[in-house]
Amino acid sequence: MKWWQGLWASAEVTLVSLTAEHARDAADVHAATFARPWTDGEIADLLSRPNVFGYAARPAQGGVALTGFVLVRLAADEAEILTIAVRPDWQGYGVGRRLMDQVLAHAHRERLASLFLEVDEANAAALALYRKLGFAAVGERPGYYRDRQGDRRRAIVMRRDLASPRKGR
Ligand SMILES: CC(C)(COP(=O)(O)OP(=O)(O)OC[C@H]1O[C@@H](n2cnc3c(N)ncnc32)[C@H](O)[C@@H]1OP(=O)(O)O)[C@@H](O)C(=O)NCCC(=O)NCCS
Repeated sequence: MKWWQGLWASAEVTLVSLTAEHARDAADVHAATFARPWTDGEIADLLSRPNVFGYAARPAQGGVALTGFVLVRLAADEAEILTIAVRPDWQGYGVGRRLMDQVLAHAHRERLASLFLEVDEANAAALALYRKLGFAAVGERPGYYRDRQGDRRRAIVMRRDLASPRKGR
């Protein structure tokens, strides 16, 4: 994709709530971005749970069904980003940032205290995005991920505290 197409495309992305109807398209995006893809059944199963929600990015001009999506699990007054993925040909055009902004807005609306996620120590793009959004490293899981060569890598656990936690905890 040329840079000007990307600028236009990202401006035209629409964010909608992720539903089971998106599961197959979300699985396609996941398969294009991760070595161990989640099936549409796994994604639909997660979405059927009352404490799981997500957002999907759709290109307004058509073409691919989804450019990216994010899945989040709520637990009391915290939430965990289960996965976020942007199609490789759409990466770097602001879609991931918009999906995360939507999750942060949702978390603020729900008056959550904090958001958590785990990220591969070698995932420079994701680490940069999360740091930019105010996430900070709070722990690590040695050997949590395995790369395509079979080598093990650390997961960095990151947390973003939110301004207005729910009262009465
Ligand atoms: C991580 C991911 C979701 C980011 O989505 P994206 O749409 O490409 O990111 P954006 O264009 O919104 O970029 C937002 C910020 O992320 C950072 N970033 C994005 N791509 C980057 C790259 N290749 N290198 C370094 N930083 C990068 C930058 O800080 C960027 O802000 P800037 O444009 O102001 O510099 C996407 O790259 C992806 O799907 N990767 C594969 C799946 C994955 O790793 N998911 C995360 C698992 S924890």
